[in-house]
Amino acid sequence: MSIQKSSELKRITTHRLMEMKHRGEKIAMLTAYDYSMAKIIDNAGIDVILVGDSASNVMAGHETTLPMSLEEMIYHASAVIRAVKRAFVVVDMPFGTYQGNSRLALASAIRIMKESGAHAVKMEGGAEIKESVERVLSAGIPVMGHLGLTPQSIYKFGTYSVRAKEAAEAQKLLEDAQLLEQCGCFGLVVEKIPALLGKKVAELLKIPVIGIGAGPHVDGQVLVVHDMLGITNEFRPRFLRRYADLHTIMTDAFCRYIEDVKNVNFPNELESYE
Ligand code: KIV
Repeated sequence: MSIQKSSELKRITTHRLMEMKHRGEKIAMLTAYDYSMAKIIDNAGIDVILVGDSASNVMAGHETTLPMSLEEMIYHASAVIRAVKRAFVVVDMPFGTYQGNSRLALASAIRIMKESGAHAVKMEGGAEIKESVERVLSAGIPVMGHLGLTPQSIYKFGTYSVRAKEAAEAQKLLEDAQLLEQCGCFGLVVEKIPALLGKKVAELLKIPVIGIGAGPHVDGQVLVVHDMLGITNEFRPRFLRRYADLHTIMTDAFCRYIEDVKNVNFPNELESYE
């Protein structure tokens, strides 16, 4: 187990992430949406925390990420920022706050940075969001790209299956990745693409490429925290490694609590005041 020492508390920056790529040191990234979870993750020594719009699924119970609002993202991001001492915190720009309108993109990104204290934003897409990416970057806000399976476009794809298996889509992904790097993005997430394509993207770019379902050859990995802890029980894609079975552990704890309350086994004398 690697709980970080106070000597390792030097904050992660975009510069340090770039150095890690060039040293060949893999970058570990996880999502978080609240203070308590973010505190545990940061204390364990994670490099990057993503306040993902996957909050829409795992926190709010929506089927897709599309309903997430800017205010909700700022709420989650503020809670995470209050907990974090070391990690670099990236916040997803929610659906409808940056596509097709670069002025709206800048206004949305500024609100996220000002109101939550986040360190960077993430946007899904390539050439089609170039103007928005450039305008946000022009304000000095670090931007992370996201290509491959981009969940905000789920109704265009029609399925959550692996992207860019065909040559034409793979070629477009490589071109978009290069474009985002040329624009000035500090990093890129690639989701659910063949491992060989993940390797190609990571080799092609100088900026760190973080994969989720993109194989082992990228510069780092990201998972949704509820999935890797086994809190979500039904979601079991091939790329997901479950590091705990909290669904079972939590269900057991809740059942024992209910039983104790019903049987007046809780609280006992030591748990009561005189
Ligand atoms: O919203 C999210 O959690 C994400 C990750 C899956 C990369 O974008």
